[in-house]
Amino acid sequence: MPQKLPDYIAANKHRFVEELKEFLRIPSVSANPDFEDDVFDAAEFVKGKLLEAGADVAEICPTAGYPIVYGEKMVDPALPTVLVYGHYDVQPADPYDLWESPPFEPTERNGSLYARGACDDKGQVYMHIKAFEYMVREKALPCNVKFMIEGEEEVGSANLGNYITENKARLKADVILISDTSMLGIDTPSITVGLRGLAYLEVEVTGPNRDLHSGVYGGAVANPANVLAQMIASLHNSDGSIAIPGFYEEVLAVSPIEKEAMARIPFNEPEYKAHLDIAQVGGETGYTVYEKTSVRPTLDVNGMWSGYTGEGAKTVLPSKAFAKISMRLVPNQHPDTISELFTKHFKSLAPASVKVKVTPHHGGEPVVVPVDLVEYQAASRAYEATFGKVPIPVRSGGSIPIVALFEKVLGLKSIMMGFGLDSDAIHSPNEKFDLANFYKGIETLPMFYHFYTQAKSGK
Ligand code: BES
Ligand code: MN
Ligand code: MN
Repeated sequence: MPQKLPDYIAANKHRFVEELKEFLRIPSVSANPDFEDDVFDAAEFVKGKLLEAGADVAEICPTAGYPIVYGEKMVDPALPTVLVYGHYDVQPADPYDLWESPPFEPTERNGSLYARGACDDKGQVYMHIKAFEYMVREKALPCNVKFMIEGEEEVGSANLGNYITENKARLKADVILISDTSMLGIDTPSITVGLRGLAYLEVEVTGPNRDLHSGVYGGAVANPANVLAQMIASLHNSDGSIAIPGFYEEVLAVSPIEKEAMARIPFNEPEYKAHLDIAQVGGETGYTVYEKTSVRPTLDVNGMWSGYTGEGAKTVLPSKAFAKISMRLVPNQHPDTISELFTKHFKSLAPASVKVKVTPHHGGEPVVVPVDLVEYQAASRAYEATFGKVPIPVRSGGSIPIVALFEKVLGLKSIMMGFGLDSDAIHSPNEKFDLANFYKGIETLPMFYHFYTQAKSGK
């Protein structure tokens, strides 16, 4: 049992936070080429900290995009191996003016650390590095550990699939451990047992061959912005369901037992609404908020633009209108099939007055992790040891597309021990990570190694 763990955390917590702040000061925004050098710097930072913590090997593995940091400590090849996955890249911090403190100047307020990446995923990656440091220093590492920390998660992990295919032998492990999701609450531990898949597309609607005077031509020439708005509006039925033919064909119905278990997951709707300042929740009728954000698929506009969007008013009938549309998928929907169904349907909606182009972006398959695995049971016991409560298995609405590939290519299940909170504002201004969650993560992860090794090898 990792006995000295709470003492080790208490004695080192200040240093842990200072190191994490250093990590957070690197603006490793993978989506924006202006930050290219910083993304590489973040990879170097991770490599350095893995070595400092006690890894025997840590190296930067180049890819066609941003590198993957690989590290390992092999205790004994006969013992199980845990492969930790996470990402050092972050989402863009825009809009900057909505941040109360600058996104890349990590600031502590009321027990939380505010910065882009504080929760997603630098803070959570750092819990793993510090948990590893503890286990190495206190001779409490019960098994082998490998790290694979990538820099392109926020832009679709385009090069990670190749990397794992080409490095199967090196990545040989027994389980994948990920902290890149959230928990129900610091007093309500939970383990993520599902992720939604993703199909992401961009649409372009073209009307006249140039922007026109909206008075001279308006009324006779179809406005692509108006047309696009109509097309998008028709993608949902009045009951909130999605109107693409065949969209629900592969959706697995949730069993009554699962439905009943979901209904018992603590959820406070008035608080949820107050937190978001909305008077009513939206979506499909006949489903709870939890169901709508976990086991049901969605279609959402992520961005839309056309015509004049600057200060003041310009009278213009735009030539083109654009939108970025995501669909979150559930078992057994496949991103390629859904993208095809979308494209065919969307094109069929267009009146003869416009031309439509649809371009698919990255996608990913949904995943579900069974709760009867020894890996899950070890994670459950770890939370029980540090929180004094059995964690609740929950399916999350977010996506980590590479998880499905880990299973396909490496044949490994992923255990998702996320320590974020839904209120951590990941991808939004004022992202934060509660330090209580950070410490609790560092405390709980070694417990997983302990119970997992015990279950696998009787040690
Ligand atoms: N860590 C998130 C995914 C996540 C967040 C899962 C919260 C569960 C709960 C990840 O970094 C992410 O943002 N994924 C993207 C997909 C990716 C292809 C850009 C997402 O879900 O939008
Ligand atoms: Mn993430
Ligand atoms: Mn993210």
